[in-house]
Amino acid sequence: MNEPLLDIHVQGKRYGNRPILADIHLQVAQGETLALVGASGCGKSSLLRIVSGLDRDYRGQVLLSGQPVHGPTPEIRFVFQEPRLFPWLTVAQNVAFDAGGPVARHRARVDALLDEVGLHGWAGSANRAP
Ligand SMILES: Nc1ncnc2c1ncn2[C@@H]1O[C@H](COP(=O)(O)OP(=O)(O)O)[C@@H](O)[C@H]1O
Ligand SMILES: [Mg+2]
Repeated sequence: MNEPLLDIHVQGKRYGNRPILADIHLQVAQGETLALVGASGCGKSSLLRIVSGLDRDYRGQVLLSGQPVHGPTPEIRFVFQEPRLFPWLTVAQNVAFDAGGPVARHRARVDALLDEVGLHGWAGSANRAP
């Protein structure tokens, strides 16, 4: 078998002294779609946070193309379950945040993305409801 895109080993994950995940070994191939299904609270999000590098407080290792994931990386994207906007930034600043640096540096891309979702004209607005 070719090297998996993701090679996930979680020997243990606890919150405090409460065990959440144990002995998980999961491989994901390039192009494969994988769904984690389980009861609410069984640890799906905890596993995804580990895989995406957002949580490093566990025993085990996650390899992306053979390289250990030590923290968030642009190669692993994470869509949160709830909105994760920065209320103190404008719409355009929220869109540009991931790219890093000021909006002016990413103006064309930001405008194109806002256009795509029908938010043209809202770039300078605060994202918080008035
Ligand atoms: N930051 C945290 N601190 C303490 N307990 C947590 C934390 N996050 C999740 N938990 C607990 O860990 C368990 C697994 O949560 P989670 O991974 O969010 O489950 P799922 O996504 O499958 O619903 C749940 O019992 C939850 O209450
Ligand atoms: Mg969840």
